[in-house]
Amino acid sequence: MRLTLFATARDAADSLARHVVAFVREKPDLVLGLPTGRTPIRFYRELVRQARAGAVDLGRLVTFNLDEFLGVGPRHRGSYRFYMERHFFRQIGLPGDRANFLDGMASDPRGECERYERAIAAFGGIDIQILGIGGNGHIGFNEPGSWLEVRTHIVELRPETRRANALLFDGDPVRVPREALSMGVGTILGARRILMLATGKEKARAVAKMVRGPLTTDVPASLLQLHADVEVLLDAAAASRLDRA
Ligand code: F6R
Repeated sequence: MRLTLFATARDAADSLARHVVAFVREKPDLVLGLPTGRTPIRFYRELVRQARAGAVDLGRLVTFNLDEFLGVGPRHRGSYRFYMERHFFRQIGLPGDRANFLDGMASDPRGECERYERAIAAFGGIDIQILGIGGNGHIGFNEPGSWLEVRTHIVELRPETRRANALLFDGDPVRVPREALSMGVGTILGARRILMLATGKEKARAVAKMVRGPLTTDVPASLLQLHADVEVLLDAAAASRLDRA
């Protein structure tokens, strides 16, 4: 696991965007796994800016989002699909058939998870997976617990995760769905390269546990240590507990 430290969250996000631009120049039809959340907003903005400035053509990308709330449709303002359209896809005009999502309204959620795994495999797997990290150490929606599912699956969201997502649902954690669909840790580890963006002091504890180990399902991000090519881009606040025992 390689750590790169930046003075500010903005510097970290801009650097991540530069990484992705470089990868897309090398391979325009890159298969990119994408997160939502507060952390990557600046990253998407910078990527859009570079595309508009003509620095990179993102039109041939293939994307797979990590997760989606269950029972929430694409036009719901709280859905991750809505987020992605707003912050990225609409801005770059990516053809709809190149952006892949888990369908939160699927009548057969389990079948939907299997479909997603097949779709990732059909594109030859994920080249680069971008991740954020939850304050509780989750990646995607793989929540801490005594066990984890390997592949894309239905998850029960922890209260702290529902609170963290309340803003998407009129600020009311009770309105945040109790369940979601998420790539599994095995799906994530199947990506050829992983880049994580972690910023803010509320991530410092989880980042320290992820980096120092031990490997445990109580800190799903610690399992990233099993991957040979992970880079973590951190601001000073998120890195602030790394030097403590
Ligand atoms: C969202 C996702 C989550 C977030 C994490 C951090 O698609 O996969 O694991 O990356 O919850 O979210 P923020 O950035 O809002 O702190």
